[in-house]
Amino acid sequence: MKKRISNLVLESILAVGLLSVTIQAAATTTVEVYKSPTCGCCAKWVDHMRDHGFTVKTHDIGNKEIRKKSGISNSLGSCHTALINGYAFEGHVPAPDIIRFLKEKPKAIGLSVPDMPHGTPGMEGARSDPYSVLMIKERDQDRKDTTIYKRYDPHAQQAKQVQPDNPESQQTGSVMRLK
Ligand code: CU
Ligand code: CU
Repeated sequence: MKKRISNLVLESILAVGLLSVTIQAAATTTVEVYKSPTCGCCAKWVDHMRDHGFTVKTHDIGNKEIRKKSGISNSLGSCHTALINGYAFEGHVPAPDIIRFLKEKPKAIGLSVPDMPHGTPGMEGARSDPYSVLMIKERDQDRKDTTIYKRYDPHAQQAKQVQPDNPESQQTGSVMRLK
């Protein structure tokens, strides 16, 4: 009987140990971020990633080279490129989408939020525009060939009330274009 109890104790100690190892693994996922040293919205996105438990290493050398190397076409470009577990994430991609993607481990290059839409993590302000998180399946894929991984539309509810059958408005000029 005594032996049984001590076995139980030992088992629960092992279980707790395993659990903390799992939590640690998630919390210490390292993100390599390539950005410009002077970009404020990049720094805010880095904070957003840290708030979600990622360990972030920043490289203030711009992201054009690493973007090309990672297989992300210019049509999907934004202000920073992040590398995690062999995947690439371009621009202001929300951390929850990255966490889901890393769990699903799809056969893909990564995700992109092209340009810098208002209202994305790191681009918060008075204005919030609809935007899509795009999945890049193959190297150098063009923006039009990607698939929508997640759609954010802060106006969806409003639009529905005003015009029930108006499809999503793809307003041009609603994003800050990169030069
Ligand atoms: Cu930005
Ligand atoms: Cu940035």
